Formats: sequence, structure tokens, C-alpha cells
Amino acid sequence: MCGIVGYIGNSDATPALLSGLARLEYRGYDSAGISILSGGKIATTKRAGKLGVLVEALKKKPLPAGKVGIGHTRWATHGSPVDRNAHPHIDPEEKVAIIHNGIIENYQVLKEELERLGHYFSSDTDSEVVAHLLGIEYGKSADLTDAMERVCQRLHGNFSLVAIAIDSPGVLIGARRNSPLVVGLGQGENFLASDVSAFISFTKRALEIGQNQVVTLTADSCSISDFNGVTQSPREFQVTWDASAAEKNGFPHFMAKEIMEQPKAVADCLLGRMDENGHLTLNEVRLSDDEIRDIDKVIIIGCGSAYHAGMIAKYGIEHWSRLPVEVELASEFRYRDPIITRNTLVIAISQSGETMDTLMALRHAKDQRAKVISICNTYGASIPRESDGVIYTQAGPEIAVASTKAFLTQIVAAYLVGLYIAEIRGIKFIDEVRDILEELGELPEKIERYLETSERLKDLALEFKSAQSILFLGRHVGFPVALEGALKLKELAYMHAVGFAAGELKHGPIALIEEGTPVLVIMPNLNSPLHDKMVSNVQEIEARGARAIIITAENDTSITSPRAIRIPDAPTLFQPLLAVLPLQLFAYESAVVRGYDVDQPRNLAKSVTVE
Ligand code: G6P
Repeated sequence: MCGIVGYIGNSDATPALLSGLARLEYRGYDSAGISILSGGKIATTKRAGKLGVLVEALKKKPLPAGKVGIGHTRWATHGSPVDRNAHPHIDPEEKVAIIHNGIIENYQVLKEELERLGHYFSSDTDSEVVAHLLGIEYGKSADLTDAMERVCQRLHGNFSLVAIAIDSPGVLIGARRNSPLVVGLGQGENFLASDVSAFISFTKRALEIGQNQVVTLTADSCSISDFNGVTQSPREFQVTWDASAAEKNGFPHFMAKEIMEQPKAVADCLLGRMDENGHLTLNEVRLSDDEIRDIDKVIIIGCGSAYHAGMIAKYGIEHWSRLPVEVELASEFRYRDPIITRNTLVIAISQSGETMDTLMALRHAKDQRAKVISICNTYGASIPRESDGVIYTQAGPEIAVASTKAFLTQIVAAYLVGLYIAEIRGIKFIDEVRDILEELGELPEKIERYLETSERLKDLALEFKSAQSILFLGRHVGFPVALEGALKLKELAYMHAVGFAAGELKHGPIALIEEGTPVLVIMPNLNSPLHDKMVSNVQEIEARGARAIIITAENDTSITSPRAIRIPDAPTLFQPLLAVLPLQLFAYESAVVRGYDVDQPRNLAKSVTVE
């Protein structure tokens, strides 16, 4: 939620800031703005609407050139998306400008205190109080680092902040608690941003900033302290992908590109998973084998598509490790007093590694002494950093708000965790695990084969363009796939869509079927005991007028429907990685034919860093 970027160097800041914001727009896109320090003054332009509106405004009236600046793309929490609520925010004396991602929970108290001192606020945001407080503190000592430390001590809630000040033209300052902020180290220029994509075309050298830390950048130096001024040593890392991975590369949308990247993403997710002795390994494990052997229950937490990936993973992890697995929405988890012991393993799934609901659930689990392994696509993000073990999905940057390649690789990674536990606990022999990995290794080719022949989904999207409601039915691992298909259609095409476990049809949902109701059915494998039951379910809904579109294996000759969509055959546990592909494409094509913004659906954001 909200993308922030800061630049300090020897070039004009505006182009670097705009290119960073373009890469961060997935984090929020209801308004954008930049401030530049130039000629002893702060010059600001900010506009409601997508980044393009700001870019047009800057074309008509460019900001003066300046070598330090900050930029923000917003996802509104406090205050509607109008020009005056856009960031940056400036203090009343126009000495400092700040940008903020997160929520200042005590902003009302601070605002009232400032109003008593005669401060007038020009926005409805929580963030503006930070600009006012920083202005006051900076007025006291003229040391921006000191001032920021003192301000942070007063703030409750979550924040990443970046600021500039008129009397410190050679300094860019940032701070974070619970919200993401990374440093990019360039040649004679440095960056601060919500994530590395903002500066990847300038540098691949990055520094992690820890919790409750303030970072002070000049064009060629970087120092980090905690909120009490004690110096901290940051961890440097190298970004492993390049700028082209964050471009559309000729595709009309990032989502189209990311769907087509899925064969490679799954293959990359499987890369390097064996140690020299042929044992399965995770990227970083800080749990001993004994601790893994003592696990007696697994709880998977996640939000949105990550939650659906967890629902699918449950089938594999239980089957291979023989441990009971619960799957819970991260936003619900810590509020129900879950039963957690030292022997509980919590698996947190998050593409961004910054989803606040998941982070807070993870912390709750750790407070109760559970072990935590995370599955994440973003190196060095908060969730993997706070976990005892990490498996990175290695899918490359995912920009489109709707998750596709991250979702597939989350399932694969969670399966790997299940196999890892099964191997350490001695439930599976190494060669059994290797056989399963070999089957997993066949998936990239199968995914690619399906994607090459997926044109038909455009016709279906056209046919159902005006449907009032679309249902999705699945059973076993197909049930979470149905939920994911419905979520995709809702978020992209703004159509009413619901996923059901097909066995539940007769207990209520069948009442929704009318003449012509489209129903997407995920048919279980031919050799599954559920196959024939699903065939009966299809007959029941078709008898009531439904138009069933059946996603089924190419070798399933029992399905003769002209509306069948054929996917390559795969073992039951791996079928979701194929069955979800037509559903992704259906949602994508439906959004396109209905004329909606595929990559940036209304009201959503990719990385949701508020609870
Ligand atoms: C947002 C995104 C979803 C995503 C969910 C969880 O709602 O729009 O696509 O599945 O967050 O994100 P995470 O980064 O934790 O996987």
C-alpha cells in the first residue's frame, strides 16, 4: 500500500523518481506526487488519479531541476483520493517534505496537540502530522537525522517515511517500522524505496533497513541508526533479477506477461532444492532437524490468493508428512486465540512478504513460541526476515495486482516444505521425495503446453460478458481452485462470482442456478473417486439450465461436452497448477472485453501493508 521512492545524487531527481513510481504503482494508484529540493526551496506537484495524471501535469509545468527529491504513489487509507490528500506533505513553514506508507495510529492525538499550537492542516491524512512534527523537531536542531529519530519515537503504528529538508540539500532521510523500506546503493547516487524494483534500472546493490531504524543518505554515503541514535550495521544484498523482468516486454499487460511466465516461474521455483547429498533444502532454515521432528501440527496463514495456495498445500502436506494441517486467513488467525505450542509449525505464505495481516499473525505465532517458516517471493522482506526458515518462490517480480505466477509457485514451495518435513521426519525416503520432485519437474512443460493453446478463453469471456453471476465448482484440491477462479473474476472483471465445494451444491448453492447461469467446473482426475460424483453434479446443474464449462484432463474421454476446456493430465495433487490457468485467463479476458484496467483493478493494491 503506497509506493515511496527517494533520490539523492548528481542527476536531476525527477526522472529517477518518476521511473521508480512507475514500478511501484502496483502498490497503490489513486494519487501521486513528487517534491524536489531546488534553489533552497521545496517544489511539489501532486495529483489525484493514476501516475499518468501527474506525468501530464509535470509535462505542462515541469518542476525545477534538483538533485534530491521524493515521490509517492498512494492507496488511500485516511482521506479520500483528492489532490490535497496526495503526498508529499509539507510542514507549515515549508522547511520539510515527507512521504509515508503505513498508518500513524495516534495521529488524532498528535493532530489535536499540533492544532493547539496553532497548526493548520491542509489534508485529511494521518501522514501530514509527520510533516508538522518533523518541521518542529528540525527547527530545534537543524540535524535531520536527530529530528527524524525524535519524531519516530512519538509515532504509533506502521510507517516507512522518507523526507527532505531545505537546509539539508545533501541529505535524504528515511525511517521504518513494520512497513518496507530498502536502500539502493548507486555510483554517486543513492535511493530509498518501498522495494528494489523502484531502483533496479539504476543499481542492483541494496541494503536492508531493520525495524525501528533511521537511514541517512548522501550521494555517496549511507548510515543507519535506531530511533535512539545508536549506530546499526545493515545487511547488503544483490538483486538477482534485472530491469527487463519488471517491464511488459511487448505484452499488453503485466498480467498477460506474468501468466505466460508461469512455466519458467515454476521451473525456477524448483531450482537448487537439493543439497550435495541429495536432500531437499530450503533457502534459509534456522530450525534444527530435531525441532522439525517435534512438530505435531501445521497451521498455514495467508491472505487472498496466498490463502488459496495454502488451502491447496494442505492436501499435499498432510498426505506426505502425515501431520494435521489447518489453513487460516491471516486476518482472522490471531483474533480467535488459536491453539499454538512450541511444536506447532506456522507456514506464512506471502508474495510481497509485507502483508500486514500475515506479518501480525506471524508475530502472534512467534509470541506463542511456534516455529515459523515463510514462503515468499520478495528477498529480505519483513515476513521472511522474521521467520525461522524461508523458502523463496523465485518467481521474479510480480507487478499485476492479481497474483498468477506467485500463486503457482506458492503451491510448489509449500509442497516442497511438506516434502522437506516428510523427509526429515522419516515418513518419506529420499528416493520417494525424488520421484515426487521429478513429477513436479514435469509441470513447467505441461503449463507451457496448455498456455500455447489457450486462445479459446477470449471467446468464452465474450460469451459471458454480461452474465449476472458466475459460479465455480470444485472438489478436493479443485475446491480452492474454484475459490481462486472466483476471486480472480471479481477483482479483475468486477463480476459477481462465487466458488463452491461441489458437494455443497445440494445444500444451498443450487438454488442460484437459473436458465443460462454460467458455471465453471473443475473436474477431478478420471481415476479419482470424486470424478463420477462431479459428473453427477454437472448433470444436476445442467438439468436446471446452467451452462457448464468443464475444465478437464485431455485424456478424460468420458467428458464429451463441447464446452470442455482440456488441460494436460497430472497427478491429483498437481492438477491445481494446471486447472487454475484457464480461470486466470478467463478473468483476464473478461476484464479486457469489459474494458477494465487489468493490472490495476479499482480499490485494490498489490501489497497491503495495513490491517
Ligand atoms: C492483495 C493482493 C492479492 C494477494 C494478497 C496477499 O490483496 O491484491 O493478489 O493475494 O494481497 O498478498 P501477499 O503479498 O501476502 O501474497
